[in-house]
Amino acid sequence: MAPLGLHLFISLCLLLFPFCSFSEETPKITLSLHHLPVPSHPDPFHYLAALANASLLRARHIRNPQATPKPTWAPIYPHSYGGYSLSLNFGTPPQPIPVLLDTGSDLTWLPCTKSYSCRKCSSPSNPIPKIPTFFPKYSSSARLLGCRNPKCSWFHSQDALASCRNCPSNSSTCPKICPPYIIIYGSGSTAGILLSETIDLGDRTVENFTVGCSVYSVKQPAGGIAGFGRGVVSLPAQLGAKSFSYCLVSRRFDDAEGKAGSLVIGGEPEGSDSGLRFTPMRKNPYILPGSAASVYYYVDLKKITVGGKKVKVKKEALIPRKDGSGGTIVDSGTTFTYLDATLMEAVAAAFEEAVAGRYNRSVAVEAATGLRPCFGIGLSAAAVLELPELGFHFKSGAEMRLPIENYFAIAGDRAAGAAAAACLTLVGGEADAASGLEPAVILGSFQQQNYQVVYDLERERIGFRRQPCLNSS
Ligand SMILES: *[C@@H]1O[C@H](CO)[C@@H](O)[C@H](O)[C@H]1NC(C)=O
Ligand SMILES: *[C@@H]1O[C@H](CO)[C@@H](O)[C@H](O)[C@H]1NC(C)=O
Ligand SMILES: *[C@@H]1O[C@H](CO)[C@@H](O)[C@H](O)[C@H]1NC(C)=O
Ligand SMILES: *[C@@H]1O[C@H](CO)[C@@H](O)[C@H](O)[C@H]1NC(C)=O
Repeated sequence: MAPLGLHLFISLCLLLFPFCSFSEETPKITLSLHHLPVPSHPDPFHYLAALANASLLRARHIRNPQATPKPTWAPIYPHSYGGYSLSLNFGTPPQPIPVLLDTGSDLTWLPCTKSYSCRKCSSPSNPIPKIPTFFPKYSSSARLLGCRNPKCSWFHSQDALASCRNCPSNSSTCPKICPPYIIIYGSGSTAGILLSETIDLGDRTVENFTVGCSVYSVKQPAGGIAGFGRGVVSLPAQLGAKSFSYCLVSRRFDDAEGKAGSLVIGGEPEGSDSGLRFTPMRKNPYILPGSAASVYYYVDLKKITVGGKKVKVKKEALIPRKDGSGGTIVDSGTTFTYLDATLMEAVAAAFEEAVAGRYNRSVAVEAATGLRPCFGIGLSAAAVLELPELGFHFKSGAEMRLPIENYFAIAGDRAAGAAAAACLTLVGGEADAASGLEPAVILGSFQQQNYQVVYDLERERIGFRRQPCLNSS
């Protein structure tokens, strides 16, 4: 399964470490928008189409982790998840590396060593000048994770570690380092070896943080990924944080550098007295421990409303099924919220019904962007769009009644005379071909803009509060 042979590993180990040795405060981290390359592309629909593709690819993967999409499926665009990044400082002295905030996975990894190779991570329309890379050999605190280290079993089964664990202590040929990891994402993958390293959070440092040193990636962002999913490997868990929260600044299609939201790790989470509305964090009871889905944040979505009216679906459409499929997860690493075929049909139909007579659907723009419905908005007046409100309503009264910019985007360039339309920024509606683990709803980052989202890990609940996220920093 691992693509990297033992022998590459030994040479890597030597390359990284000449001797191949083995051996609560509240940090506030600036969260900035990943720079998204947009306007220079000749096709005005390209950007939305690429984001829609990326969201779908990730949804497909989350829904069916066994079926790894073929490499050709991914968008040509390196920041395929259109995600949000933060900067983490690893090593002694600290080396800052940008990483994407991802609540849908748990391992934090960095592009690592001068032999790091990132295939299809840039395109002619968006070249990455230089991938920020972590160099363990310049860090006095970097250690390879040993195969006898209990943390190695976070990643590998007892069987996989038997040759290490059962090796007589007087033997000189025992395996020493924790075997390599490989992680498959919705689009792309990464592989490398595990390090035990110091992370510098500004006001404190944490030793022995387990971080992936990736040497080979396909279709990944220019930096690494920070895993905020559930479980022991995740960044908040390793820091012993009882909570984390973020506020994602709004994503305009002309994202300016310097706009930042914020991420807070640890500390006492805000409560409902601060206007947050909480819903219980669920475990899907039908998911096997150790599977990719075991790190997802499930919540109980009770209903979806369009224009204040409940979208009619069978009650079963929103609850997890015995085969592990169904249910709703919150995922900062998905851009556009995914709805399964049943829900997408119902929501799209509800929008069409609610705007009937006022706007016509633009099939051309739907075809160009992969989004639907798209409503033509003509070339004339700068009309104020009147579209019905979209609401997600969760158990215990938490709800997201979204501002329009969180679920409609203007596609096309009216100024240039191209057909323009307002498109619903949800994806899905694919026939349920895949078997396996298939959440029915994946709540993506586009819909979470300008919300304070609090993950109270101790009380196992997620809170939402609408607010402007722009930080002065
Ligand atoms: C999106 O995916 C389709 C195939 O599913 C492909 O034809 C199209 O070129 C992709 N668009 C972008 C912008 O990546
Ligand atoms: C290792 O120790 C075992 C038991 O103590 C002994 O039987 C064996 O001969 C030793 N092997 C080596 C290579 O020293
Ligand atoms: C980190 O690991 C080293 C070596 O295993 C150990 O000596 C040290 O006490 C650990 N530090 C912390 C804070 O756990
Ligand atoms: C929608 O399309 C119909 C038929 O082409 C046309 O008569 C009508 O004016 C259009 N409505 C709007 C709001 O553009």
